[in-house]
Amino acid sequence: MFGKKKQVSTIDKDQLELIENAQKRIKQKKRLYIHFVIFLIGAVFLIIANTVLGIGKDFTIAGINWFVYAILAWLILFLYHFINVFITNKFMGKDWEKQQLDKLVNLQQARIDKLKQNFLKEETKIAQTQAYNEAKDLPQPSEKKNSNELTIIVAAGENNAIGKDNSLIWHLSDDLKRFKSLTNGHHIIMGRKTFESFPKPLPNRTHIVITRQTDYEVPSGVIVVNSLHDAVDAAKNDKQPFIIGGGEIYKQAMPLVDKLEITRVHSIFEDADTFFPEIDNTKWTEVSRTTHDADDKHTYAFSFITYLRK
Ligand SMILES: NC(=O)c1ccc[n+]([C@@H]2O[C@H](COP(=O)([O-])OP(=O)(O)OC[C@H]3O[C@@H](n4cnc5c(N)ncnc54)[C@H](OP(=O)(O)O)[C@@H]3O)[C@@H](O)[C@H]2O)c1
Repeated sequence: MFGKKKQVSTIDKDQLELIENAQKRIKQKKRLYIHFVIFLIGAVFLIIANTVLGIGKDFTIAGINWFVYAILAWLILFLYHFINVFITNKFMGKDWEKQQLDKLVNLQQARIDKLKQNFLKEETKIAQTQAYNEAKDLPQPSEKKNSNELTIIVAAGENNAIGKDNSLIWHLSDDLKRFKSLTNGHHIIMGRKTFESFPKPLPNRTHIVITRQTDYEVPSGVIVVNSLHDAVDAAKNDKQPFIIGGGEIYKQAMPLVDKLEITRVHSIFEDADTFFPEIDNTKWTEVSRTTHDADDKHTYAFSFITYLRK
């Protein structure tokens, strides 16, 4: 209860280091001083040993007594000790080492910071590129805004075959009926070649024909445009415009449409020359399917399948 109070040190780490350094310097100088005194005594002893006691009196080098060389060698040793204490230890001691180490650490830190900045810049660039690519894959708002439910309608074999020599490969009357009923009263958008595969325009539908030709002639009532974008724009007042082919136009329209009305003909047509693009299941959801068997009016079995964009 009344025990001695423990003394708390008030000297911080830096102060302690300074004290230790000062003590070390004192010790170094003390040793140098002792060395100096021993050197003086030693030198006197060597002179006495040679001149008074006659030790090695006859031993000379280049006419000079040996003790002179001995004293000179010792003097060099003493000078080395002197330089060590006042130059090497003073200017290149622990402080100097610490300064050099700090410099090196700062240099490395600056390099690491620079690398971090570069890394962040690269990361930002990659993120921006990814965002750009994702946005690019999405339907463009300017192209989408005109239509409510832009729909592709197509009949395709199991191998995605849709035509040969600019005509259909099969005749399926129920499929034609479905085509007529779905597209009745709507705009139908098609490539120039598909348009030319019809004997005449289909009744009760507004035909929009896409061509790069600037002087393409069509019967009255048929709209001619020079791009898919213009075709979609021309059908902007229709709640459900249809893209009806062919291969080139389907391919370009796939990223833009909201719905696919597919008649899947359950056979493989090896000799076809025009194909529908692959349906990416990660982008499309099947929402309905009705299957028809082959019969006397239909050479092939087929299914009506509706997909909506995910
Ligand atoms: N199974 C089905 O449901 C179905 C449906 C439709 C068609 N088909 C078949 O598909 C075949 C025809 O398809 P296809 O690929 O050969 O031709 P297509 O797509 O009907 O028409 C191609 C033409 O469209 C124009 N065009 C294409 N892209 C354009 C763009 N970005 N800008 C301006 N014009 C552009 C060009 O006309 P210009 O050369 O005049 O510039 C081009 O030659 C036929 O066999 C047909 O029977 C099948």
